[in-house]
Amino acid sequence: MIIAQITDLHVRPRGVLAYGGLDTTAMLGRAMAAIAVLDPAPDCVIATGDLADCGLADEYRVLDEIFAQLSMPVFVIPGNHDRRDAMRAALSGRHRYLNQDPNFLHYAIDDFPVRLIALDTVVPGDDGGQICAAREAWFARTLDASKGKPTLVVMHHPPFLTGVAGMDPSMCRTAPSFAALIARHPEIERVVAGHYHRPIVVRWAGTVGFVAPSTAHQVALDLRRGQPNRFNHETPGFALHVYDANVGMVSHVVPIGDFGPSREFALPPEYPGRT
Ligand SMILES: [Fe+2]
Ligand SMILES: [Fe+2]
Repeated sequence: MIIAQITDLHVRPRGVLAYGGLDTTAMLGRAMAAIAVLDPAPDCVIATGDLADCGLADEYRVLDEIFAQLSMPVFVIPGNHDRRDAMRAALSGRHRYLNQDPNFLHYAIDDFPVRLIALDTVVPGDDGGQICAAREAWFARTLDASKGKPTLVVMHHPPFLTGVAGMDPSMCRTAPSFAALIARHPEIERVVAGHYHRPIVVRWAGTVGFVAPSTAHQVALDLRRGQPNRFNHETPGFALHVYDANVGMVSHVVPIGDFGPSREFALPPEYPGRT
């Protein structure tokens, strides 16, 4: 099974640029084009929040049109730039799974060899996220139904620290029982997130924590203390989470762009073992 993860699309209404000149909607188009030509094709796409830049109905209309062009199912969750009500109103027609809970946009998908459990970390008006007691209780009940099936936990705000001072203050706030719950479920292959706009991998709660790069702007890597987040024009990307029963899950980060044709390796005669 192949799961393509796109994140932090920050789509704006048609003709509107983000952040003083970024055409985030066109950048999403380039991500969609890159996914459409993958061979083998992914079985599904997960879009891990900050789908819209301001949570506007016009932005979700653009997203709905773009996602409708993909041949595989797309599963979406909100981020801090999204508004639950506007997102549900615009997308739940084609994305029926958004109706699993009246209060939160969380859901489980059992259609594939890997189970998807998507969490809603949004706290309206807050850059950071949270798994509150109600959401954790839903997650615990949903995990109990996993029956050991390989599972991917999908959320916008990472629930783990990264050591990046500009990012960690807006992580997902959780009770200690949340990490303990994950640690009790070894069928969780990954906890995958977005929000930080760059690729990050950590070991956390007995599983792998992963953050995918944005399809739009990236957050500049700055490991100094006390520095604010700044964005730059590093190459956008997406992730492919590939599951094979014999291999387990392997995650690839795929840059988006025209990097020229692939070429065969022509080893020189002085290559070790040849002479
Ligand atoms: Fe974002
Ligand atoms: Fe975010």
